[in-house]
Amino acid sequence: MGSYNEGGLTSPARAEQPLGLRNTRRGYGVLAIALHWLVALVVFGLFILGVWMTGLSYYDEWYRRAPDIHKSIGILLFFVMLARVVWRASNVQPDDEPGIGRLQRRLAHGAHRFLYVLLFLLMISGYFISTADGRPIQVFGLFAVPATVSDIPNQEDIAGAVHWYLALTLIAIVGLHAAAALKHHFIDRDRTLKKMLGVRSRTT
Ligand code: HEM
Repeated sequence: MGSYNEGGLTSPARAEQPLGLRNTRRGYGVLAIALHWLVALVVFGLFILGVWMTGLSYYDEWYRRAPDIHKSIGILLFFVMLARVVWRASNVQPDDEPGIGRLQRRLAHGAHRFLYVLLFLLMISGYFISTADGRPIQVFGLFAVPATVSDIPNQEDIAGAVHWYLALTLIAIVGLHAAAALKHHFIDRDRTLKKMLGVRSRTT
């Protein structure tokens, strides 16, 4: 007690800042953190499942089941992403760490916005593949999402190609995004990653 020191402040004036539901200027709140890591996990899972299932033969027992799971999770992810966008818009965004240059700041914020756009385009293109034959998407047998547009010539092939290239682009951007987060943590030694992990800060 009493020896911890960071940023020139000494401990008697310090208190543990509790992690609340909402974001603050100091860091992300529980809900933004939970949504970030849930989406990251689901996106990696869907990518692996998607690549695996496209290599299955017609006689494989997973030939139909795997795409059904992929589509159902994709639709649920769409609703999670809508909730995330609403939550983000109704919350303050934490301040960037001091010392991050203007260009780096703009690149990071641009990449975040691009990730949102890519994710939505990816889910929309997936919807157009699945509904190209006019049939609705059954979500784990709980509810169905109806087909809307299904008369575009070669819809399934075009939407399939768009979906694949968007997925590759997303994974590439996520790779850069994760590498940047690790650089902040291990090289710059700032709080960028800690903020997204919910590691509390000590402050006055
Ligand atoms: C599919 C995977 C991922 C997606 C789609 C994604 C997306 C995003 C987005 C949109 C933000 C901006 C904050 C927000 O709107 O919530 C963000 C922030 C962040 N992400 Fe990710 N992310 C992914 C994976 C990762 C991984 C694997 C890491 C770490 C290794 C990571 C570390 C961070 C950090 C540290 C922030 C905070 C950046 C800051 O406050 O400047 N993300 N992410």
